[in-house]
Amino acid sequence: MTRKVTKAIFPVAGMGTRFLPATKSVPKEIMTLVDRPLVQYAIDEARAAGITEFIFVTSRGKSALEDYFDHNQVLEQSLKEKGKNDLLETLQATNMESGAIAYIRQHKALGLGHAVWCARRLIGDEPFAVMLPDDVISGPKPCLQQMIEAYEETGGNMVAAMEVPEEKTSSYGVLDVGDNIGKVVRARGMVEKPKPQEAPSNLAVIGRYVLRPSVLYNLNQNKLGSGGEIQLTDAIAEDIRNGVPVFGYKFDGQRFDCGSKAGFLQATVAFALAREDLRDELRHYLHELATTGQAAQ
Ligand code: G1P
Repeated sequence: MTRKVTKAIFPVAGMGTRFLPATKSVPKEIMTLVDRPLVQYAIDEARAAGITEFIFVTSRGKSALEDYFDHNQVLEQSLKEKGKNDLLETLQATNMESGAIAYIRQHKALGLGHAVWCARRLIGDEPFAVMLPDDVISGPKPCLQQMIEAYEETGGNMVAAMEVPEEKTSSYGVLDVGDNIGKVVRARGMVEKPKPQEAPSNLAVIGRYVLRPSVLYNLNQNKLGSGGEIQLTDAIAEDIRNGVPVFGYKFDGQRFDCGSKAGFLQATVAFALAREDLRDELRHYLHELATTGQAAQ
């Protein structure tokens, strides 16, 4: 039987330069999608998938992220006194159990593989999840839950996968797959950010992983890869070479690339349209905008 996945690593050490000047003082993960910070979406998805230990790999300038997860008792009390029960519920839904979150600093920006490796002592010898909060995924069932269920059947490593246009492969880890049919696809190899002409397929890795501890041992070698960084993709590819199965999991759901401005905006509109309290007004506005094409001046 496979061991239960209860720990997740959230690499959040990046500087978020694509969102300057906002990220000068606000960590990207705290930027809001409608009215919730980006990181809350990842946390909710992890909780729904049965994760109970949350490990954040942070860096300098991320203290707002740590504050966000503190219980705000003054605010809770004030909402209680005013009878604002809906808001109180919203607020309390973000409360985390004491001791459930750990923060580890990545002292140098050496890449995603290095960030994950920084959490190795907290993971120990267990399977674990990695979630990149920039990738926001909405769907009928939380993406990580789909993946953990598949992992419990197959074992091995499981990475979220999605087909992308060929010219976009250089933005992703890409899977080398045989027959790309079915939901769970066995990978023969994995390459980080290949040029389109060198990409083994157009099946890209999206920021959800269920990994075996062997990936952490592979990261111990600290080998530099694409972009001169220590890549998680390379450590997973090494597992394939060592005979550990790796599967691409073609999840059900819609993925938003909130690491880019266009993706963040699309997610904002899509999540706002999913909200009853905002839907009508926004739809009306979008319609008007589509007709007149008027931009802000
Ligand atoms: C990271 C990973 C890449 C993966 C991507 C998914 O890249 O290195 O393999 O495909 O996330 O979003 P990044 O977007 O951090 O450059």
